[in-house]
Amino acid sequence: MNDLIDLRSDTVTRPTPAMRRAMAEAEVGDDVYHEDPTVNRLEQRAAEIFHKEAAIFVPSGTMGNTIGVKLHTRHGQEVICEARGHVINYELAMMAWFSGCLARPIYSENGILTWDQILPEIRPLHGHYAPTGVIELENTHNIAGGSVYPPEVFDRIADGAHELGLKIHLDGARIFNAATYLNRPVHEITAQADTVMFCLSKGLGAPVGSMLVGTEKDIAAARLYRKRLGGGMRQAGVLAAAGLIALEQMPARLCEDHANARFLADVLNHTKGIRVTHEVQTNIVIFDVGATGIPAPELSARFKSRGVLINPVRGTLMRLVTHLDVPRPACENAAGIIPACL
Ligand SMILES: Cc1ncc(COP(=O)(O)O)c(C=O)c1O
Repeated sequence: MNDLIDLRSDTVTRPTPAMRRAMAEAEVGDDVYHEDPTVNRLEQRAAEIFHKEAAIFVPSGTMGNTIGVKLHTRHGQEVICEARGHVINYELAMMAWFSGCLARPIYSENGILTWDQILPEIRPLHGHYAPTGVIELENTHNIAGGSVYPPEVFDRIADGAHELGLKIHLDGARIFNAATYLNRPVHEITAQADTVMFCLSKGLGAPVGSMLVGTEKDIAAARLYRKRLGGGMRQAGVLAAAGLIALEQMPARLCEDHANARFLADVLNHTKGIRVTHEVQTNIVIFDVGATGIPAPELSARFKSRGVLINPVRGTLMRLVTHLDVPRPACENAAGIIPACL
């Protein structure tokens, strides 16, 4: 796969040489006994960076979201989320399966919900209604094209929710991309979230792992849910060592991915029949190929035959994601290949 220009997702990044060295040299212990010094350090650094009381290392973003929803809900409640959110569309109905909750999706064109949209959907316990358990928000929003919550919009939702006694779980799989776009530290843009899940394994380049941050009490409970889900990982310091590099060093380079995404979006917008559907704020570009007359899966196959991997999303939409393993020269190659496939 090394010669391919893989723009399917930022999950495809491979660990850097520094990560591989750190993994080989990692000090480890049994993390289920809390005895892995490298995991402990990663969890402590994540809590510090997010200005939260505690953090837990989990194998995946899906597990982090699953635990986040579980912490703030009881069976028979609803989870308010955006209609194209990861938690409702791409996590195998985990909130129903593990937490016994239904999603209450709200559609927003750019993936960014507002308090005015959310308030009418909040339900009390009633003869007919399931009550709202938690509000789940996604920043950046993946399928809406890597869009970023304006901090005042996010904080207004959190304030409104907290006044009603509701918690906010933030799917911040790409929260460092949001922070890069806003030029603000992550702790400022997540201060009002009760729990935040973020991924080390996407744009930050670690091979495996996500973090859940929140209060001491919530993270202590999360440790038990992680074990129930089979996520107690023993000598996980080998993974946490790469995670520490991802956390400490990799956010500073995300601006390169954003510039590459804007560069490719510009190429797409100048390609006949293709239209980028949104303002590109971070590393995700959603584009509509309907006017080319070529079905998205067919176009994806044509790109692949020329060495560029880009996935169809749904209908006439496709998505490309820039990342660490597709530097500018590779993007320039892709920019030549894409128009030639039409
Ligand atoms: C917004 C968002 N949340 C959660 C996840 C889940 O992460 P994982 O693949 O590590 O389970 C993803 C994965 O792509 C994502 O894009």
